[in-house]
This record gives sequence, structure tokens and C-alpha cells, in this order.
Amino acid sequence: MADFLSMYSIQHWLESCPQGYLENTEYGHAAGEHEPDLLLKDPLLREQAIGATVQLVVGERCALAASSGLINAAPDEGSKRFLATQTLDEARHVEVFTQRLYDLGVKKGALEATIRQFANPNLVRFAEVLLEKVDKKDFVAGVVGQNIVLEGMAFSVFEMMYAGNQAVNPKFAHTLAGTIADERRHVGFGENRIGSLIQEHPEKKPEIERMQKEMSYWMLATFADSFRNNPAREEMKKLRESVSGYGAPKAEWHGADLSALEPEEMEKLLSETVLKEFKVRLGRIGIEYQTPARP
Ligand SMILES: [Fe+2]
Ligand SMILES: [Fe+2]
Repeated sequence: MADFLSMYSIQHWLESCPQGYLENTEYGHAAGEHEPDLLLKDPLLREQAIGATVQLVVGERCALAASSGLINAAPDEGSKRFLATQTLDEARHVEVFTQRLYDLGVKKGALEATIRQFANPNLVRFAEVLLEKVDKKDFVAGVVGQNIVLEGMAFSVFEMMYAGNQAVNPKFAHTLAGTIADERRHVGFGENRIGSLIQEHPEKKPEIERMQKEMSYWMLATFADSFRNNPAREEMKKLRESVSGYGAPKAEWHGADLSALEPEEMEKLLSETVLKEFKVRLGRIGIEYQTPARP
């Protein structure tokens, strides 16, 4: 327990995060970094970037509501303090992705309308399943839903976006790098804290397994929508080509070159990566992974 307490303490968080990898950043990236010109000038590309960023804001608002809501449901002081640091991380994520919407030209007064317009209904359902558990102060289900399912998903999505943006949009890639480092800490907490609680409450397993199956379904439906209706695909190619004189720079992720994949192949790679992660992480805490229906 001593190890757990120091790994997830506020002191550790201060040293590694605000005084560590976030030092000298501005909304998650270096001062003076901008979105690429082509992204701002090309209406289709810009809309696609806004749409993708709205999903990040929706996911992070859910994580903010869940991590703050779970503080008062936590059975021990160490978890409460960790969740307090996580709450600030999630609020920061909401802020940096909201700032990206402004950087992409969304007017402050139009923020909520833009989010309503672009929010994927399947992602909204995904969030509702989790927030129901949080509202009931169900700590064990809430932490599995948040720190393993939601954040396992976010972690892989951010990593994939990072790989895709590293060469073409360093500003956005840097914002993602900081959130990836945060998510890694959050996922680690879920695994470390929840294993022993599941052992104490084996009767909770079936309900948690149902929740994972349901959240996984809404997640796959969200991925399907995002990859299958992507009108800016050709434009994205243009963006890649604009930063390199010799065709598209490679974007490696899990052994694949993202810039060469068809949308269906990307969807398959992301879905399989996330579901495999779920299986491994749930197995470690004694929960049996449930295969979701295919949307
Ligand atoms: Fe987050
Ligand atoms: Fe997180």
C-alpha cells in the first residue's frame, strides 16, 4: 500500500506532471505553435478537425464528471487524493481541446451549439452508461468504466491521433502527448486499485461485465461513424503532402503506416487494439472480458 500511496500521491503528480512534462506549455503545447495554415483555410479539413475535436471534448467532459463524482464514493483517502489530481487532469483536457476548437475558429458564443452539432450520439450513450454508475456512487463499477474502459479507449485513440499528426500538425501532437502521459497514469491507477476491491466484492462482477460489454458496443459504433463518414480524407492527404516535398510522410502506429490505410482498415486496427487492451487489463483485475455486439 505504501508504494500505491506514493505512486498516486499529489506530491508525485506535482513533480511529474505540472513541474515535469507540462512545464513551459501553453494549453498543452509550446508557446507560438499554431494549427497548420491549410487546416484553417480549407473548409472541409477545418470542419473535419472541429468534428474530431468535439468528440475529444465530449469524452473529456465525461471523464471530468466521472473522476470528480467518484471522489466521494471512494472508500479510502489515497484514492480520493488521486482522483482529485485526476479531476484536475481531466478539467485540463477539457480546456485544451476546447481551446483547440477556438484555435480552429469556433466562436466562444457558438461553443455549445458546435458541440451539440458534432457530438456523436453513440459516444454520448457510451458516456451515459458510465455516468449512471457514478451517479449511484458505485465506486468499483465507476472506476472500471472510467479508468479501464473510457481511458483505455482514450489512450489508444490519442496515440493513433498522435502518430497521424506528429509530422503534419506538431502543435496538436504536442497537446496529445501531454494527455497521453496523463491517461497512462489514470489507467495504471484503475488496475492497481481495483483488483483487490473486485476480490472483496465478487458479486459485482456480472454487472461490471455487462457495463463493459455495453460501453464497448457504443465505442465501436462511434469508431464506425468516425471512419466510415470521413469526407475530408482526400484533404488530409493534401495536408500530409503539403509538409513534405516527397509525398506523404509515414505515420507509424502498431506496425502500420496510417497514411497508407483505408478508413475500414484504420477502424479495424483501432477497434482490435482497444479491445485487446481491455481484455488484458480486465483479466489482470479478475474481470472476464465480454465480446460486444458488432454495430
Ligand atoms: Fe482525459
Ligand atoms: Fe483520464
